Amino acid sequence: MSQPDAAPKIHRGLKDVYFERSATTFIDGKAGELRYRGYSIHDLAEHSTFEETGYLLLHGELPTKAELAAFEALLREARALPAPVVDIIKSLKDAHPMEVLRTAVSALGAFDPEVSDSSREATIRKGLRLTSQVPMIVAVHHRLRQGLAPIAPSQTLGHAANFLYMLKGEAPSEDAAKLLDKDLVLHAEHGSNASSFTARVVIGTQANIHAAMTAAVAALSGAAHGGAAEDVLAMAEEIGDPSNVSAYVKRKREAKEAITGFGHRVYRAEDPRARHMREGVRRLSAEMGQPKWTAILDALVKEMSPYARLGVNVNVDFYSGVIYYLHGIPKDLFVPIFAVGRMPGWTVQILEQLDNNILIRPLTLYAGPAARPYVPIESR
Ligand SMILES: CC(C)(COP(=O)(O)OP(=O)(O)OC[C@H]1O[C@@H](n2cnc3c(N)ncnc32)[C@H](O)[C@@H]1OP(=O)(O)O)[C@@H](O)C(=O)NCCC(=O)NCCS
Repeated sequence: MSQPDAAPKIHRGLKDVYFERSATTFIDGKAGELRYRGYSIHDLAEHSTFEETGYLLLHGELPTKAELAAFEALLREARALPAPVVDIIKSLKDAHPMEVLRTAVSALGAFDPEVSDSSREATIRKGLRLTSQVPMIVAVHHRLRQGLAPIAPSQTLGHAANFLYMLKGEAPSEDAAKLLDKDLVLHAEHGSNASSFTARVVIGTQANIHAAMTAAVAALSGAAHGGAAEDVLAMAEEIGDPSNVSAYVKRKREAKEAITGFGHRVYRAEDPRARHMREGVRRLSAEMGQPKWTAILDALVKEMSPYARLGVNVNVDFYSGVIYYLHGIPKDLFVPIFAVGRMPGWTVQILEQLDNNILIRPLTLYAGPAARPYVPIESR
């Protein structure tokens, strides 16, 4: 490819680059606003459910009672994993849950009856099936790695409650199910973040939805994206006591390391999702007689307050890890739970890409050696 005449501006990390229009998610990073299909994340977090928000994301409007009931039934009916996929999960039982999830999502493509139908309708059906299957993969793997039998899915519980039920073997309290449901709503969609962009790149090549979802899971697994909740808990454990926060932050900053759970590529103000999780941490840690967690997180926020002027504030994952921990969920399941929540978002991004598809293929500006003659190996 020939080089451009004038040096083009390079947008490293595609920062601040618009590559497409989207009717799904509005984000104002300066004001700290997030809306799905025009509805504020605050209203959805307080009043909606994962199923209702999923319907909204996929269909563009809030459902009527009948539409919601039909949608919930579709998700319940899709709670099934083919036996060979369970065998694959079994054979990978000692791997990290994200490795297992990525592999199992990929394998599901081989068993999906509509794998070669890439119509919009079939893609929605496959997206819904995967939305039900992803939490099952996580739960089945978690049971198997503990030497426990997988739990058959409930045909009555909602999406969040069924996930906790399959994970722990007992129906969760209403409060626990509600808090996870809220967490899933908050994670359901977030524009062209790294994993959703990855899904668009893959579906843009006319690969199938299982391929795109597999790639999205892979992108989510990195610490700069989905891994933050796990890292925040590890950080809080390492800090151990609020009195150690100041020294911890100083040490990290001297080493030029980021403080995990702070900062975001898009938000300059506080991530609007964080406040709902903060309330959850406060309530849970008081209820469970473990106020230390709130105290450590609050001290971190205070210590990091000078960074707010750089646009570095808490993000959604700052609080969610502690909530999962207080619910007795092991650290390595935090990223998979993010994936459970993000399924409607990935599905809708894939659909939008398909609706107006174009191969995504940006350029890199060549900065290597000038043309030079090949030197035979004997002469080097
Ligand atoms: C998410 C993240 C990768 C975004 O990176 P980014 O887009 O390059 O961040 P910004 O452009 O806003 O950074 C502005 C400045 O703040 C600093 N900064 C950003 N996040 C920081 C953090 N968590 N701790 C300390 N400083 C941070 C940057 O180093 C940069 O400083 P510089 O200009 O001196 O280089 C980054 O904030 C991060 O690593 N955060 C921790 C991991 C995390 O919580 N990820 C989950 C995101 S939901």
